[in-house]
Amino acid sequence: MSICGHTPSSSLVTYFDMKTLLRIDASSQLMQSHSRSLADYYEFRWKEHYPNGKVVTRDLVREPIPHLDEATIALLYTGGEPPEGMIPPGIVLSNQLIRELKDADEVVISSAVYNFGMPSALKAWIDHIVRFGSTIAPGERGPVGLLSNERACFLTARGGNPERSPDYQYPILKAVFEYIGIQKTDWISLEGTRIPDGKLDSRISKARSAIDDLF
Ligand SMILES: Cc1cc2nc3c(=O)[nH]c(=O)nc-3n(C[C@H](O)[C@H](O)[C@H](O)COP(=O)(O)O)c2cc1C
Repeated sequence: MSICGHTPSSSLVTYFDMKTLLRIDASSQLMQSHSRSLADYYEFRWKEHYPNGKVVTRDLVREPIPHLDEATIALLYTGGEPPEGMIPPGIVLSNQLIRELKDADEVVISSAVYNFGMPSALKAWIDHIVRFGSTIAPGERGPVGLLSNERACFLTARGGNPERSPDYQYPILKAVFEYIGIQKTDWISLEGTRIPDGKLDSRISKARSAIDDLF
């Protein structure tokens, strides 16, 4: 590997290699999920690229995030925290989820399309990580994002295709990530997982090639 014409020392290579990927899975299907399969492939390619990298997984179905409650909302938008021992469980969880996000260099989210949008499991995660004082702050012209992760990749699977029904998931994910400061996002959408036209394998290959192109 060479950077700007120089060959870096082995310690420099190791330094660049020690990246962290946060993997988030949101399909309710644990065994038959196409989006989870794509995330497995993404993780495989990522680990090939960063052999010393660390992957942190948050499975939103095996460990569901509760809906926002009133005590949590009261603190999400005011910033600050009450004294130790009086912190609502939703804020304790929010702290943990935001820590995972901030510690990651890159994020990959795998998700199904349910009823034209994202699974509620993923929405509950989003509702706990958009937070004043932690991931957003007031700016001169409105809120500014505080995160500086290198990039995020969204891997979505849907039964139909855009000609048959809309998918509002990606625009929301993109908007949320830009809002919290992660500007570089990629989206790979596997479509027609339930269209019996005999072409699903070819669509899956195309989605995997699109993942290859990211590395
Ligand atoms: C509750 C539910 C709602 C769904 N709604 C849609 C939809 O609005 N649009 C669509 O294209 N497919 C829809 N599907 C099909 C899924 O998107 C499809 O099965 C996809 O492969 C799920 O992702 P997964 O394979 O990662 O689990 C729905 C499936 C379920 C179970």
